[in-house]
Amino acid sequence: MKLFDVYPLYNVTPVSAKGMVVIDDKGQKYLDFYGGHAVISIGHGHPHYAEKLKNQLDKIGFYSNAVQNPLQVELATKLGKSSNCEDYNLFLCNSGAEANENALKLASFKTGKSRVIAFKNGFHGRTSAAVAATDNEKINAPINKQQKVTILPFNDIAAFTAEISKGDVCGVILEAIQGVGGLDEPSAEFFQAITKLTKENGALLIADEVQCGFGRSGKFFGFQHHDIKPDIISIAKGMGNGFPVGGVLIHESIEASYGMLGTTFGGNHLACAATTAVLEVLENENLIENAAEIGAYFKEKAKEIPQIKNIKGKGLMLGIEFDFEVGELRKKMIYNQHIFTGGAMNKKLLRFLPALNCTKEHIDLFFNALKEEL
Ligand SMILES: Cc1ncc(COP(=O)(O)O)c(C=O)c1O
Repeated sequence: MKLFDVYPLYNVTPVSAKGMVVIDDKGQKYLDFYGGHAVISIGHGHPHYAEKLKNQLDKIGFYSNAVQNPLQVELATKLGKSSNCEDYNLFLCNSGAEANENALKLASFKTGKSRVIAFKNGFHGRTSAAVAATDNEKINAPINKQQKVTILPFNDIAAFTAEISKGDVCGVILEAIQGVGGLDEPSAEFFQAITKLTKENGALLIADEVQCGFGRSGKFFGFQHHDIKPDIISIAKGMGNGFPVGGVLIHESIEASYGMLGTTFGGNHLACAATTAVLEVLENENLIENAAEIGAYFKEKAKEIPQIKNIKGKGLMLGIEFDFEVGELRKKMIYNQHIFTGGAMNKKLLRFLPALNCTKEHIDLFFNALKEEL
């Protein structure tokens, strides 16, 4: 059997990794400023994370959601405290798309309505309603296009008011900092206005924190830069530092009922151990503060490079925009400089998504290498 060929691959085969460094099958080291697409939050092979997962595996790796799992309760308590979201309840699943799928389903259950408002260049995953709310025609199959979704631009309050006031919207979903789209953000004024309008019109606000959450933006959640409170928050990526896990934080005003949501694998013992380890390391090593500080340093250094036309993002969720497409530059950074970076739907944007324990020395290495290739 061959692999279903859906990914254009770089010719690099990682076999081990530690901290910010990935090592390939020839022993070549790469600096990882891509974090496996914003997944590596506390660094590759963090000793506390590895130990916690190994210990858990020696005890029990999985049992179904039909029995008690105190690790889920411990995780929910810790996550509530760390994120300052103690008035939410947690549903655990396995990926970002699944988190958004459950978030949208909940909004529809709660309101009895079915239309979704999403935003231009937004990305919410590749499954049913999540992909329908994603602004990319190419990844929506006819079966997905049956969903009722209206895509609006950021920061156009009049357009938003006109749509939400029709009264048939169940949920409004947005990223506080767009990932795949290219680091665009709604203004605080817009975010606050749509939060109010969503509530007034009987819909629910869903913050997709799959990529910008878990400390990446320099605060626990990206929306926390804007003084708003969503009804539902979806999480994944950095949550497990590579272990596949996702979740939905559901405001306690939304009541649960048996069978409303469910999953076989979600919240298994290993996923809980991985996520709890991530939360412990974020706290013990002050990594969210570090993301804010190192992100600010990156922005200062980027200003020194004349070819960089625009610097976008917050914390360690950053993008630098050029006046040319960056595909070739990314290849040169990998093959000549041995540095991983990310791309975006905006082809002129180089994305920067390192582990949150990235240092100023790493940033200096990145810019020295970039200067050589420009
Ligand atoms: C903001 C956002 N939401 C959802 C997803 C989908 O997550 P997953 O690939 O884990 O399904 C992604 C993935 O890139 C994302 O960036």
